[in-house]
Amino acid sequence: MANDDERLERLQGMLRQRGILLPAFDLYGGAKGFYDFGPVGGRLRSRLNQVWIDHWLSLGNIVEISCPTVTPYEVLEASGHVGEFSDFMTVCGQCDEASRADTLLEAHHPNPDALSQSELQSLLTKVNPDCPSCPTPEWSPVVAQNLMFSTTIGAGSSGRPGFMRPETAQGMFTSFPALYRHFRERLPFGAIQVGKGYRNEISPRQGMIRLREFNMAELEYFIDPNERPNHDFSSWSSHEICLIDGDGVSHSMTLQHAAESGLIRHPTVGFFMGKTFDFLSSVGIDGTRVRFRQHASDEMAHYASDCWDVEIHGSYGWIECVGIAHRGCYDLEAHETATGKSLRARREFSEPKIREIDGWTIDGGVAGPAFRADAGQVKTIVESFDADVEFPVEVTLSDGRNLAVAAEHVKRVQKTVKETGEWFIPHVVEPAFGIDRILWHVLDHAFEETEKGGEPYRMLKLADSVAPIDVAILPLFEKDGMDDLALELHQLCCSTSGLVSLYDGSGSIGKRYARSDEIGVPICITVDHQSVEDRTVTIRKRDDGSQTRMSMDQLPFL
Ligand code: GLY
Repeated sequence: MANDDERLERLQGMLRQRGILLPAFDLYGGAKGFYDFGPVGGRLRSRLNQVWIDHWLSLGNIVEISCPTVTPYEVLEASGHVGEFSDFMTVCGQCDEASRADTLLEAHHPNPDALSQSELQSLLTKVNPDCPSCPTPEWSPVVAQNLMFSTTIGAGSSGRPGFMRPETAQGMFTSFPALYRHFRERLPFGAIQVGKGYRNEISPRQGMIRLREFNMAELEYFIDPNERPNHDFSSWSSHEICLIDGDGVSHSMTLQHAAESGLIRHPTVGFFMGKTFDFLSSVGIDGTRVRFRQHASDEMAHYASDCWDVEIHGSYGWIECVGIAHRGCYDLEAHETATGKSLRARREFSEPKIREIDGWTIDGGVAGPAFRADAGQVKTIVESFDADVEFPVEVTLSDGRNLAVAAEHVKRVQKTVKETGEWFIPHVVEPAFGIDRILWHVLDHAFEETEKGGEPYRMLKLADSVAPIDVAILPLFEKDGMDDLALELHQLCCSTSGLVSLYDGSGSIGKRYARSDEIGVPICITVDHQSVEDRTVTIRKRDDGSQTRMSMDQLPFL
């Protein structure tokens, strides 16, 4: 086994043993693509989420929302996920194992993820790649497999089809009217959401990297496409970062230079790349192991017009952990078309515009009773017609129904109007974070192996911002009042806002330090015989092992 694989195995073993990450449903033999965050990992995940939330709220024009994970079919049909959200699959006829075709072909193509179905089929037929589960593969034709978990909302004949959401983003798009109102109808603004996403991956692998239920954190930032934002790039001015463009060419340059030169096409995308780098550094990701990779045009998700992945290097090589996509007006337009409801923002002109109108509108007195709830949609369609159109005309509504609009339903409009502004569909820039992948790399980068007394010694040098436990309270012995004093201190820490304390009285003090180091506790406090006499305790720091004695009543964090 290669050294890296052995390190990975030791790290996974330690995370499991210490209650950080554990395979889910282990009692029942496990379930591929699902993980538990254990008694220590649960807190690590929520701290990481909170740092992420605080990071984006600090921009000042962002709100946090929370939308359902179960989503009606119509929403995800409009968003394009029903039609487009698939991976290409092939099944081995010998062992029945389903695989992603691009994964099987990784050794035979530099970027198989970008290949079309027919290109994947040709390459698969040509190279007949190994099967992960049997020695004599026999590959079925490549087919598109939708990745959403489907469900039924309600029961019996009133049950409606739905899906577990594949991204949190759609809830933020469907909440646009409430967001627009909240922000007093002024762009730009953003909504963030952390929560579960679901993708029924064809063949989950690589531990935490490809999960079927995963933790997402997304920001949808709504902007006016006519405005060129003036973001402040100065905090990254001395930092050249690694940028790999859509043709695979690597550049080392500052974000400002990349945005000004057009390599990054929209300044807000560049600004969010910088903010993403800051976030990753603040949770302990090693900045020298971060790079940005632009999607090739044939690799982009169906909704994106530009996308940069933030990749982090770790035990599995370079892994995409964040995607920063320019989604244009794709989503709001799609939901507007599907529902017939306006998802627009208004911009005022600097000077009013005079416009001559020669066209049509509906005659409310006739069209209202005739078209009832559809009258609004019919009006919008009729008002888009040129003056020379001849009625009757058949029009198609957003839900696909056709209606005949007759001459009696309409009237000619000829007038001069003064327009002070216009309605438009905002564009969206979206940084989307895979929290589990980031969390994995936080652990991977924090994992340090040394030796102590000739024995292997392991620790997690976690950033204080995400360390799941702030302080471990260790009575030297659980007798002679040391346990009572340690418990008193533990209770005091627990009741201090924001502080998480662990009381550990089991085993030798050396073993307890080692266990604390393995879960990344930055500070241990030891209560000994002297403590009972004078209420002084020993503060031991994880990273350098230094020990200082001080009064228990003057601990700086209490
Ligand atoms: N919303 C981005 C993604 O699902 O990856």
